[in-house]
This record gives sequence, C-alpha cells and structure tokens, in this order.
Amino acid sequence: LPTELTGLVLDNLREVPDFPEPGVLFRDITPLLANGEAFSTFITGLAEHYRGHIDAVAGLESRGFILAAPLAYTLGIGMLTVRKGGKLPGPVLGVDYDLEYGSARMELRPETVQEGQRVLVIDDVLATGGTAAASIDLLERSGAQVVAVCMLLELAGLGGREQLPGRQVDSVVVYP
Ligand code: PRP
Ligand code: MG
Repeated sequence: LPTELTGLVLDNLREVPDFPEPGVLFRDITPLLANGEAFSTFITGLAEHYRGHIDAVAGLESRGFILAAPLAYTLGIGMLTVRKGGKLPGPVLGVDYDLEYGSARMELRPETVQEGQRVLVIDDVLATGGTAAASIDLLERSGAQVVAVCMLLELAGLGGREQLPGRQVDSVVVYP
C-alpha cells in the first residue's frame, strides 16, 4: 500500500489508554473519519490501489462497513455485507468462531455473491484474525475469490496473520 496512506492514518489516530479495560491501549479511528479531507484522500488512495483488481468489496460489520461502502462506491462496484449473527434475513451462511471469552458468529447472504467474483475484504482492525478468517470462509463458500484483505490497523502480536495463511494481507499500519 502507498506510504501516504499510512501517514494519513497515523496523523489522524487517537490512542486511548485503558480502554475498553485496564491495560489495553485502544487505537481510535474516529478522528480520521471526522476529518473530511483526510478520510476522502484515504478512500481515494485505497480505490486507486485496488482499481481493476477487484469486483466487489466485502465489509465486516460494523466498523468495516464504514470503510467498505465509500470504497465500493468510489470504484463503482458492489459492497457485500458480512454481518454479525441474526441480522440478515435468510437464506444465510454462518460461521461460529471463538473469542478470548465466548464465541461470535458472522453471516452472509450467499445470493449477494457472484461466482468467481474477485473480492477485497476490508475491516478496521486485524487482531486475532477470527473475524476475518470466518468472513473469508463465508465468502469463498458462496463462490467468491478473496484476492486480498485490507486492514487499517494490524495488531501483529495477536497473531491474526497466521490465521490467514497464503492470503495477501494489506495493513495500513502495523503495530508489534
Ligand atoms: C473488532 C474489529 C474487528 C475485530 C477484530 O470488531 O472491528 O472487526 O474486532 O478482532 P479479531 O481479529 O480478533 O477477530 P468488534 O466485534 O469489536 O465490533 P465492531 O466492529 O462492531 O465495533
Ligand atoms: Mg469489527
């Protein structure tokens, strides 16, 4: 990814200590979203990077939607919504996956996917990789070809990339 994109994110990020619990440093992207010029430049830069290589953008609910919709719109291609369990009317495919405490579920309407479609998966944060891995599974079982995964922030210490073997993972900012 172009290094200007990394600069845009770093310049518009807020680091919040002890959120959502003590000892966790939360990286908040709301300043980037609130800065119209930076957000627009960022989405345009992403669009130019992926233009011609993808046929649809899959956003992962909910923060991934904020990035997927303007990117898909800018490119004039469709957006696929991979949603949390119970939100989509059927028929849906679903995957349950483990969290540190408990479990989560992502769902997709396979009818929204075209066979062989080249799809970019986008989300705000790659942490343990569970959300992205489950979402890729749903997309590919629905006929998509997931060609890349784009993450605004990658928390490399949590090992998410290892859950996505053989995938092209484009992270704008990587934290150890
Ligand atoms: C966060 C984040 C990613 C996911 C990353 O979403 O936005 O989607 O966790 O974690 P993982 O790599 O360990 O799966 P969250 O479910 O907190 O909710 P939100 O997007 O609805 O805010
Ligand atoms: Mg999320």
